[in-house]
Amino acid sequence: MKPIRVGICGLGTVGGGTFNVLTRNAEVIRRRLGREIQIEMIAARRPNPDCDTGAIRITSDIFEVARDPDVDLVVELIGGYDVARELVMTAIEHGKHVVTANKALIAVHGNDIFEAASAKGVSVAYEAGVAGGIPVIKALREGLAANQINTVAGIINGTGNFILTEMRDKGRDFADVLSEAQALGYAEADPTFDVEGIDAAHKLTILASIAFGMPLQFEKAYTEGISKVSPEDVKYAEELGYRIKHLGIARRREQGVELRVHPTLVPESRLIANVDGVMNAVMVDADAVGPTMYYGAGAGAEPTASAVVADIIDVARSFDHPGCAVAGLGYANAELESLSILPIEQIESAYYLRLDASDQPGVMTTITGVLSEEGINIEAIVQKEVHAGEQVAHIIMLTHTVQESQINRAITAIEGLDVVTGSVTRIRMDHLD
Ligand code: HSE
Repeated sequence: MKPIRVGICGLGTVGGGTFNVLTRNAEVIRRRLGREIQIEMIAARRPNPDCDTGAIRITSDIFEVARDPDVDLVVELIGGYDVARELVMTAIEHGKHVVTANKALIAVHGNDIFEAASAKGVSVAYEAGVAGGIPVIKALREGLAANQINTVAGIINGTGNFILTEMRDKGRDFADVLSEAQALGYAEADPTFDVEGIDAAHKLTILASIAFGMPLQFEKAYTEGISKVSPEDVKYAEELGYRIKHLGIARRREQGVELRVHPTLVPESRLIANVDGVMNAVMVDADAVGPTMYYGAGAGAEPTASAVVADIIDVARSFDHPGCAVAGLGYANAELESLSILPIEQIESAYYLRLDASDQPGVMTTITGVLSEEGINIEAIVQKEVHAGEQVAHIIMLTHTVQESQINRAITAIEGLDVVTGSVTRIRMDHLD
């Protein structure tokens, strides 16, 4: 049988990993697929010293790959939004299948890309875009296709998880850990994407659309980063039996869909609270199977290449069985529902609140009175002396689940009390049960 001819655009961390996995494992891949995958050409701005590209055609023009008649499948590994979109659209126009690791591209331009691909009868695969090497797209789109999905919650940014873990375990400095993640090839070109939750929101947007069968709506995702998480809150959370994780949560509710990325207190007994370092994990709660969890390396050259190459093999399999390809978001295109994404004020969550108050009689009653007026039920309350001799105390409260608008009103009222100094720190909390 004729080989499948691929053109790789981008030979950086993931491109280099893809080249090496395809080359090193060529024989086992050939046996699985029943034919060979041949790297026909590569577009790269500069050589990658980790890759022995030998006699393979190299160009500096990515569009040459997208138009080349000898390329069956284009692998987009350049990253970014606009040029990547043009590249993928050009490849589709020329009848090529596409494999990409670019979550930003899919989250922002995916609706147009899937429409163009469907019109042209080609596939666009993007497993590597979410949670690196974990085959979570395949699990959601195919393995769980029998289920109604209720919730998807995950640690889906390795850099952020690495930073939070190192800060907690080794007391390391934020900037120092971030530089290490960049040197290891985990971080995005713009690391604020990792730290501020934008990268996680791209991935969550994709997971939510696959889970609930709705068009991609990245612009409506609520995003809050980890840069304001303080060592104090990490410590108090631990004392109360929780860990702070940067979670992406997509939850189907009667009124719409919650789509949010933010630091979250999770009970330390949950598996996901113990996912550390650069590892990712995605929990899915579905009606027939119940809760399941998918764990593995969420970033890095070869873990990400594992997903890219699996997609190449999957698409190549469809060459021999046309018509068997799974739709872009796993639902028949005409069956996507325009579900509304709930504004953050309408989400439901439990909360961790920390504030500074005068250490004098009646203060606790005044503060809890505000919560009670808003109908907010307290799960735990702790008072900590800040400095001996000073009459100020840290008060930490955990609430039961309420609507975010209720907690917002309560926080405004608490901050207005004479006995309270400064602002209230609020971190959302989820028992994930
Ligand atoms: N910057 C991403 C992360 C890379 O740290 O998870 C993988 O998408």
